[in-house]
Amino acid sequence: MYPAPVQRLLLTWSDAGTVGPTPAHQAPRPASDRGPILRLLDQDEARYEALWILTIPAGEKPAQDLARAAHEKSPRVDIRVLEVDDPSDYRKLFRALGPLAGAAKRAFPPDAWAIDVLLSAGTPQAQALWVILVQAGILPARMLQVIPAIFVGKTHPRAVREVRLDVEGFPEIRALRDEVVRLRAEARARSAAIVGESEPMGLVAQRVARVAATDVPVLVLGETGTGKELVARAIHESSARARGPFIAENCGVFTEGVLQSELFGHEAGAFTGAAARRRGVFEQAAGGTLLLDEVGELAPRVQASLLRVLADGTLRRVGGEGRLQVDVRVVAATHRDLAAMVAAGTFREDLYYRLRGATIEVPPLRARPGDVEILVRSFLDEVRARRRGRGLTVTREALRALASYPWPGNVRELRAEVLRWGVFCDDTVDLGDLAPEIRAPGTPGEPAGAAPIPDRKGPPATLAEVVEDAERAAIVGAMAHESGNLSRAARALGIDRNTLKRKLDHFGLRSSPAPSLRSSPPPSGRG
Ligand SMILES: Nc1ncnc2c1ncn2[C@@H]1O[C@H](COP(=O)(O)OP(=O)(O)OP(=O)(O)O)[C@@H](O)[C@H]1O
Ligand SMILES: [Mg+2]
Repeated sequence: MYPAPVQRLLLTWSDAGTVGPTPAHQAPRPASDRGPILRLLDQDEARYEALWILTIPAGEKPAQDLARAAHEKSPRVDIRVLEVDDPSDYRKLFRALGPLAGAAKRAFPPDAWAIDVLLSAGTPQAQALWVILVQAGILPARMLQVIPAIFVGKTHPRAVREVRLDVEGFPEIRALRDEVVRLRAEARARSAAIVGESEPMGLVAQRVARVAATDVPVLVLGETGTGKELVARAIHESSARARGPFIAENCGVFTEGVLQSELFGHEAGAFTGAAARRRGVFEQAAGGTLLLDEVGELAPRVQASLLRVLADGTLRRVGGEGRLQVDVRVVAATHRDLAAMVAAGTFREDLYYRLRGATIEVPPLRARPGDVEILVRSFLDEVRARRRGRGLTVTREALRALASYPWPGNVRELRAEVLRWGVFCDDTVDLGDLAPEIRAPGTPGEPAGAAPIPDRKGPPATLAEVVEDAERAAIVGAMAHESGNLSRAARALGIDRNTLKRKLDHFGLRSSPAPSLRSSPPPSGRG
């Protein structure tokens, strides 16, 4: 072991400039600023027994001025002129700096000397080379940076800091790191296409980010169409399991026996028709997330099996003997009031508590101020993409009606409405284009894109009659909307013009237009 070094050498470029035109990298500085080298030497703790000031021939004169000023602080100041004409040329600089590092080590042996190199002076290329020399171990030195005066006291407590090229060397970055992780998780939760900027949705995003950092089961509650599945996906995508599978299983669509085998799999021959062994969704979702949608619909026997999986992380395939370990994060969703079902005895209380390791309530759309407009804009982007760039403009009146409608079907209903405009509207969506219940809630309106199917009296209609009525109504609506323009009405209906003409004849709509239709414009050569 060497004894601890007792003396210090400071190695730095002259920052006093060159004779002649100012080099591009050098910004003018106020007269009061003495430059990084003198500011470093001004620090109480700066104590250098020796100082090497590097310069190029064109900078020798200013370097001497600097050396004189530095001499007040350091007993031994040398100027080293490097034969480099262009200090922004990496290759030339490197050829000069390599030998210089060797010379410094010989003149100031490491058993007695410690070297500091000041990164704040010299061209950016020279600074980069210092870092390379130090990191490569060619120059055994500490790297220092003098913080520009305007940052000292506010951003940085001290004027000088040691530069270490790991995150720990940047306390402000270390402090930000946790914040970045949190924000990134929150952003990812939002980027799973959860659109909305209202406060309630902000809280949902926060909760998603929080539970994503854990592995507990999550219960997602909310009315139909509020986006429960989207929330489940967001939890998965911002969790450590994001690279694993996400599988959604709708528990409401299978009979009890089928669901048991869907969830837990079965062995070959477990029941009639079970020819081969099948892995259930719990096994398929291994390492990932399983969404149990409509969990309120589970039959009691399936509830019992599920409870066991949640309790000890093992399952038994239908017809199987042993139990298998499974590694799955379970997210359950329902639009039902599970607590009420527990009270009524139709849902197991123990399972209920297992499922709700954490609960996320997705608010109904009517409780998200401002989000309708944002969602409309987002779905309109979808429409534009579907129509190959042909977008739609929504009038102020229409937007107002959309914002005040209560949306019982929530975001799903809104999305369906906007996608419908994509079929029935050319370029503008006005009040009259909205579905009647949205346009004027509670009051009957004029026929919109598709007129209502007329009520039939008497015996129930045949399917053919219903289809015929619907077709007629759609044609009447489209012709009204397009002011009798055949081509546009045909396009809106997604059929060609001749088919529309034939159908108008069939329904007797051409020779004597219905009173609600405006008369056709004069024949246009193609008509
Ligand atoms: N915040 C949102 N941003 C964008 N799209 C959304 C949002 N919420 C829901 N959607 C869309 O609305 C539709 C319904 O969403 P989702 O299937 O997640 O609802 P849900 O709550 O699971 O409904 P249900 O209870 O009927 O199963 C989907 O097309 C979904 O992409
Ligand atoms: Mg759903």
